[in-house]
Amino acid sequence: MKPSKRLDRIPPYLFAEIDRKIDEAKAKGADIISLGIGDPDTATFPNIVEKMHREIDDASNHNYPPYQGTKDFRQACVNWMKNRFGVELDPDKETVALIGSKEGIAHVFFGYVDPGDYTLVPDPAYPVYANATYLAGGEPYFMPVGPENNYLPDLGKIPGEVARKAKIMFLNYPNNPTGAVANLDYFKEVLEFAKKYDILICHDQAYCEMTYDGYVAPSFLQIEGARDYCIEFFSHSKTYNMTGWRIAWAAGGEKVLTPLKTIKSNIDSGAFKAVQKAGIAALETPQEKITELNEIYRSRRNIMIEGLRELGWDVGSPKATFYLWLPVPKGLNSAELAEIMLERAGIVVPPGNGYGPNGEGFFRIALTVDENKLREVVERMKKAGIHFNMASGAVY
Ligand code: MLT
Repeated sequence: MKPSKRLDRIPPYLFAEIDRKIDEAKAKGADIISLGIGDPDTATFPNIVEKMHREIDDASNHNYPPYQGTKDFRQACVNWMKNRFGVELDPDKETVALIGSKEGIAHVFFGYVDPGDYTLVPDPAYPVYANATYLAGGEPYFMPVGPENNYLPDLGKIPGEVARKAKIMFLNYPNNPTGAVANLDYFKEVLEFAKKYDILICHDQAYCEMTYDGYVAPSFLQIEGARDYCIEFFSHSKTYNMTGWRIAWAAGGEKVLTPLKTIKSNIDSGAFKAVQKAGIAALETPQEKITELNEIYRSRRNIMIEGLRELGWDVGSPKATFYLWLPVPKGLNSAELAEIMLERAGIVVPPGNGYGPNGEGFFRIALTVDENKLREVVERMKKAGIHFNMASGAVY
């Protein structure tokens, strides 16, 4: 039986492919350290787990949830927005619960993109933005980002004929995979661009709470009038160690959010009500707990950067996310580097080309193992002769 043509342009999902390679290596007896997927290694906060224990026993949570999320979940989301960003939202009209932000991010394309439409997608970026464009029949226009533009798409370089046919611009700051951040002035420029060409800004906020060294990430919705042009996708996954729970939410003006709600109510029936109750407990987590978690990542970041510097990498300290985005040694491409790391050192890293053509020449490290394991990573790389100048024959 022939699958649909829309799958012709969809590669296997980056991390599904990486999981397959991990399984293969483990089957051969390899002792693997995975710095692959951005999946927190510490437990969901106890206040959330305790809430779930209680709610799962309550039979009133066992039937269908409301399509846009329970009222108390949406109210908790808008309370959080008010406390965190000073933004007032209408819980009934300007927010919707998601079954993880990946779900909402993929579905929003079906609410806006027709065959022949463009979407504006950074390159490199989380693979879902381009692949959901293809699934909806659209064409991603890749906006290159790199050290030369501080990882911020250069709006002046987007051709007018592309911008006029574009329906969505997807951004993500703090950024996966690069760890880059953006400020409100940049967001204001993007908003002006979106108004000029009548484009929906979709902003993936999965990492907005994972920040270090005093950096505080802004929200588009802090800008006057932005809600008419912008949907932000907030995720419980990384902030509260809840990747497996599949709970998140989107916020934006009523008009821009409605197509996403229509798509969702025809495709899914919402997140389990007990999970939404646990999601409320998450949003009420004391800030000290989140600061403590960020301190763990900050310390890991510093250890890994020190180790990488010993190995010849000239690497700066990202202000946010638990990712390090690193150039591959000269003479290798990103797939070759990932292969060498796995074969010679038993270390899993995603190759940069998995995040788009412009990710070639880079690889990503997720700081999702403890400090001792990170020290072991550096030792294993040393032993295996993996260093930044390996192609030049230099020895470390
Ligand atoms: C990542 O590691 O880039 C993401 O966590 C993967 C995902 O959400 O699929």
